[in-house]
Amino acid sequence: MHDLTLISGRAHPRLAADIGEYLGLPLADIDIWNFPDGEIGLKINQNIRGRDVFLIQPTCPPVNDNLMELLIMIDACKRASAARITAVIPYFGYARQDRKDSGRVPITAKLAANLIVNAGAHRVLTVDLHAAQIQGFFDVPVDHLYSAPVLDEYFKKLNIPPDQLMIVSPDEGSIKRTLQHLEHIGGELAIVDKRRFSATQTKQAHLIGGPINGRTALLFDDMITTGGSIVGAVNVVHEFGAAAIYVCATHAVLCGSAIEKLGAAPIKEIVVSNTIPLCEKQMLPNLRVVTIAPLLGEAIKRIHKNESVSYLFD
Ligand code: R5P
Repeated sequence: MHDLTLISGRAHPRLAADIGEYLGLPLADIDIWNFPDGEIGLKINQNIRGRDVFLIQPTCPPVNDNLMELLIMIDACKRASAARITAVIPYFGYARQDRKDSGRVPITAKLAANLIVNAGAHRVLTVDLHAAQIQGFFDVPVDHLYSAPVLDEYFKKLNIPPDQLMIVSPDEGSIKRTLQHLEHIGGELAIVDKRRFSATQTKQAHLIGGPINGRTALLFDDMITTGGSIVGAVNVVHEFGAAAIYVCATHAVLCGSAIEKLGAAPIKEIVVSNTIPLCEKQMLPNLRVVTIAPLLGEAIKRIHKNESVSYLFD
């Protein structure tokens, strides 16, 4: 892997370092700074001419800053004559704005994809897009990884008997994803009926499936943003008599009052991956972070060597 270069932006240097450790590669020497007016400047302090460059930058909050920084890094690599540039975006922000669901609204997921491709990215490597179809928004190859095998491993180790287990989808949109977890972990399916009124307002009341009474409930979602969806679903499952409730999500965006809501909810453990960095005040005592660095590291190795990436889906 002598001609592979890993470069980290400022969004998640810890994850980038862990990926580097998995691959046995140091991160490239780069300086990134803000000018007094907020503009971003950067300089790559080593030769990357002709190299296979992987830029690691989730576009998590602050979304606009991290996205812009990624675009600037891509531009710098392009102008430094990198042979190939792969944008490694463990969490792709703006993914929920993926269609016109009313008049005169943007499709910002497509705009963000256009910006990344037009800046000069030759490929994209990402994890659990909010909707898999977003892959098609990028007119370059996208390797879309699933965190499920890594997250499910955590739950399998809990050794909960399958007849005691309910795998719960927090809304109708997550049923397919939930079924994939069910296939790996076992148990029975239940679905919470969620109605969304706005970006921050949802209502959950009914449970389809069950009975859940006295059993352990595992709730899977792709992301926890304000916590409204998952905590609403937890409350329904709790009312229906679950003995223990676990919550699991790939992307811990955790903004607004998410931490307060999660902290007050009857949840035994919250299991998330490290696609997004967490600060100390987000580290609730019942929060467990599972690393996806080996998954991303292995994918980078396979892309670099032109080997199959779908091998990792199992
Ligand atoms: C909805 O479609 C998503 O899968 C998540 O349930 C939702 O985006 C989470 O957002 P929040 O935590 O703000 O309810």
